[in-house]
Amino acid sequence: MPEADVSKKDKCYQENVPQQTPGFFLKGCGSLDWGMKNRMAQVFNPKSGRTVMLAVDHGYFQGPTTGLERIDLSIVPLLPYCDALFCTRGILRSVIPPESQLPVVLRASGGPSILKELSNEEIAMDMEDAGRLNAAGVGIQVFVGGEFETRSIHNMTKLVDAGLRHGVPVMGVTAVGKDLVRDAKYFRLACRMIAELGATYVKTYYVEDGFETVTASCPVPIVMAGGKKLPELDALTMAYNAVQQGAAGVDMGRNIFQSDAPTAMIQAVNQVIHANMKPKDALDLYKTLKHGKA
Ligand code: 5RP
Repeated sequence: MPEADVSKKDKCYQENVPQQTPGFFLKGCGSLDWGMKNRMAQVFNPKSGRTVMLAVDHGYFQGPTTGLERIDLSIVPLLPYCDALFCTRGILRSVIPPESQLPVVLRASGGPSILKELSNEEIAMDMEDAGRLNAAGVGIQVFVGGEFETRSIHNMTKLVDAGLRHGVPVMGVTAVGKDLVRDAKYFRLACRMIAELGATYVKTYYVEDGFETVTASCPVPIVMAGGKKLPELDALTMAYNAVQQGAAGVDMGRNIFQSDAPTAMIQAVNQVIHANMKPKDALDLYKTLKHGKA
């Protein structure tokens, strides 16, 4: 019989001891095949080991989200400033110029809209299409603790099997149900399950208390999701703290494209992620760029 972990012993995450990364610059990726490593090296900068992914896939369940009403106008100008774009194949084919050299990670799950139970998702694209679209990866929601938890896990494991056949990395995304507490304990559970079940990397939310235990106990890279729009300094601080506490970058959406100055914001985020710029300095950079003084 499976048993819950009821040990009274304190857990020991050793968050100050980085996981060794033999065979590749990203943790947990040393045993991947060449094509998979090459695609990971397109998304994650091999020099910094980090990424700034721009998430614009929100329309797959909530339609024309604020800031994404016209992706051709609001997002295409931001492409030079990120390391990878996270979007749906519909937006890719209809709006993103194929001349773009930017790596693309494709949203591969979908089904319910915001009007229904969100965990009731299915795989929403074939891996063959990811190859056809020259994708550097695919991403899928996993609803640990959600109503359709098992279905969403199986969606991911099927996608992982297809990804392994085609050399395409899978990003598992921790999707939080309405009634679930977003704390380190929950994210440790969700991120670790996603990694153990085969995702190449994990996208999850930042938590103030104990985020370093989430990254330490996850054997593959974690990228931080941005979440709802915050004041610019708060968003820059969250991104800074996430990478200082072990994240391999961000996959941010609203905190960039809903900013008053998205082009300035994405450049400030870039400095925080790749150059360890302090949040207050990044805010100064944001303000300078916003007012056109750089
Ligand atoms: C939803 C997603 C979205 O891509 C992403 O999280 C949205 O980005 P943000 O929260 O930064 O607006 O994966 O779970």
